[in-house]
Amino acid sequence: MEADIDRVLISRDQIAHRVRELAEQITGRYRQCPGGLVIVSILSGAIIFLADLIRELPLPMKIGLVGVSSYPGCNTTSQGPELLRQLRVDVRNRHVLVVDDILDSGRTLRYVLDELRRVGPASLSVCVLLQKPGKFPPDLAPDFVGFDIDDVFVVGYGLDYDDQYRNYPDIAVLKPELYAAADSAKTAGT
Ligand code: XMP
Repeated sequence: MEADIDRVLISRDQIAHRVRELAEQITGRYRQCPGGLVIVSILSGAIIFLADLIRELPLPMKIGLVGVSSYPGCNTTSQGPELLRQLRVDVRNRHVLVVDDILDSGRTLRYVLDELRRVGPASLSVCVLLQKPGKFPPDLAPDFVGFDIDDVFVVGYGLDYDDQYRNYPDIAVLKPELYAAADSAKTAGT
């Protein structure tokens, strides 16, 4: 795995530090909420961020998971969100915090927020670990953000390329020839 990495953008120590800061901000916002909150997280990229974040939140909470795929296989541009798993927690009249790994084009988040609004939550906020400024519409700006990154396709800490590298502990960019190899295979129809 290490041999495929071009460069590390954000180290595991930086991530851990920032996750604790985010947790403090979120705790401050929801401390007084009667009944706690419902965290809705988006599979699969957010799994590691979610696991680390919720253990830093001393708040009553329920956790619901939705499965949405936007970058299947070797794609590094959004193919549009496809629902793979429905939410099984009731969010009606509840304070809801959506937790996702990365806000890129915003198509995934838009889809999930629209679905949640239909049910009628008491409030709806968003926390993302990473965002690519300028790539998503301004009305999607999240309430809590870990890091701004440039418009590069990143892997690690839950983020994948063709379902690999989720277990890489840092957030990193792959060697360009790996993306190029996948692109030419797609062009050739393989
Ligand atoms: P959009 O474009 O809909 O993307 O905002 C949201 C979801 O797509 C995945 N995604 C990425 N995954 N590296 C990844 O490994 C990336 O650079 C990247 N950009 C988007 C991710 O699952 C995210 O929730």
